[in-house]
Amino acid sequence: MKSTSYGTDICVKGWVRSKRGGKGIFFIAMNDGSTVRNIQIVGDEANFPEETLKRITTGACLSVVGKLVESPAAGQASEVQATAIEILGDCDNTYPIQKKGATLEYLRTVAHMRPRSNTFGAILRIRHNMAMAIHTYFHEHGYFYFHTPLITASDCEGAGNMFQVTTKNLYDLKKDEQGKIIYDDDFFGQQTSLTVSGQLEGELGATALGAIYTFGPTFRAENSNTPRHLAEFWMIEPEIAFMDQEELMDLEEDFIKYCVRWALEKCSDDIQFINDNKFITPNHDLIDRLKGVLEGSFVRLTYTEGIEILQQAIAAGHKFEFPCQWGDDLASEHERYLVEQHFKRPVIMTDYPSAIKSFYMKQNAPAPDAPAPSTVGYHGIVAPGPTMQGTDVLFPQIGEIIGGSVREENYDKLMGEINQRGMETDKLWWYLDTRKYGSCPHAGFGLGFERLILFVTGMQNIRDVIPFPRTPKNAEF
Ligand code: 4AD
Ligand code: MG
Repeated sequence: MKSTSYGTDICVKGWVRSKRGGKGIFFIAMNDGSTVRNIQIVGDEANFPEETLKRITTGACLSVVGKLVESPAAGQASEVQATAIEILGDCDNTYPIQKKGATLEYLRTVAHMRPRSNTFGAILRIRHNMAMAIHTYFHEHGYFYFHTPLITASDCEGAGNMFQVTTKNLYDLKKDEQGKIIYDDDFFGQQTSLTVSGQLEGELGATALGAIYTFGPTFRAENSNTPRHLAEFWMIEPEIAFMDQEELMDLEEDFIKYCVRWALEKCSDDIQFINDNKFITPNHDLIDRLKGVLEGSFVRLTYTEGIEILQQAIAAGHKFEFPCQWGDDLASEHERYLVEQHFKRPVIMTDYPSAIKSFYMKQNAPAPDAPAPSTVGYHGIVAPGPTMQGTDVLFPQIGEIIGGSVREENYDKLMGEINQRGMETDKLWWYLDTRKYGSCPHAGFGLGFERLILFVTGMQNIRDVIPFPRTPKNAEF
């Protein structure tokens, strides 16, 4: 809390960050979590029982009464001249985060306490502020916050990496003659999972309310132990009726820039703290990187053009671990090459091969006959195979931060894609009804909240931007 009522008696409560002293005077750096800035408590040792002074250890919780005065010390506006100190909670030397400069890896093993560290306090305050930015942006632009279910019977992304939800006795599973589990007697009477995306229900919202967004937990059982994947993450998914591909890209860019601007304006203390921390930001360039994103437009380029650039890089001697022929799913090394080395700016990549994208994306006309405008890239290169109107945003340090697309609104085309992929339609009948009853062009995207926080904080590992990360073999705390 901030106060400039100098000369008045105040009471401050918080946790001791450090205590030092000399010549009969003690100084306590105390923090209540509201800001990265500590309040300094000054006192005369002679005025306090020795027993109390001994109990003022790093991590202890105190309530201090004293006079708020302007501080003579550099780097802080005020301090409190203590007249009474009450120890609310003692803290002995087994306190796991008492040492300065603890590594991020170590702090992950004490995730129950790490919010009390300066770094995590800063990250968690930034995380809160980003959530507020997101709600404010959409609210001010006429979107409705639409709540989609976390438990679902359908698989939006079709990738099959879902966590099952069941109340069945796993020691005694009923199976039919083919050995398939019978779900009739399960809680929902059918097989259910935790959602991988709220999009399908979001489309129901958009085709009723015009423009909606979701913002909630999302679950993926992909066994990818990378610094950018969580099994439980938060996703923001706007969905908008009557929006085309160019408008969708405008929205993606405007929205991300709004969030970054918000962080710079509303979290300046915390961002400055991270920027100045040589362990997290060795080049002290976080603020520059954030400002850099605000300058100029994101590059827009088709997947086909991206492949062309990557192939040229390979021809010039650049080595990638994974292949990148037309038709391959781009790996994060490819995305980052384009963003960090080639363009040095965020990239919105469009018009992906159908085979590597989801069934619901709007299909471009096949290239060989009549090239639709969007199969011809921004630089005139025509895709050699069928493409879809995906629009992913690729970011420096992160790779893919947004996955989005225009949706296929034509019932027959959508059904054609579903059948070609051999997908079951019995669980999607309600989704298909949007294409039967007053179908409309629409588009949307999903932003991984933690990937946004990774960018805004400059942290390297996604486990360090969510209070309690869920990753393979890790669900403690
Ligand atoms: O690209 P994805 O899979 O797209 C969808 O789920 C669409 N249904 C979204 C939509 O169009 N409404 O995921 C969207 C974003 C990714 O770009 C990434 O930022 C994030 O979600 N993401 C993850 N973040 C953390 N951990 C994971 N395992 C993630 N998987 C995706
Ligand atoms: Mg994606």
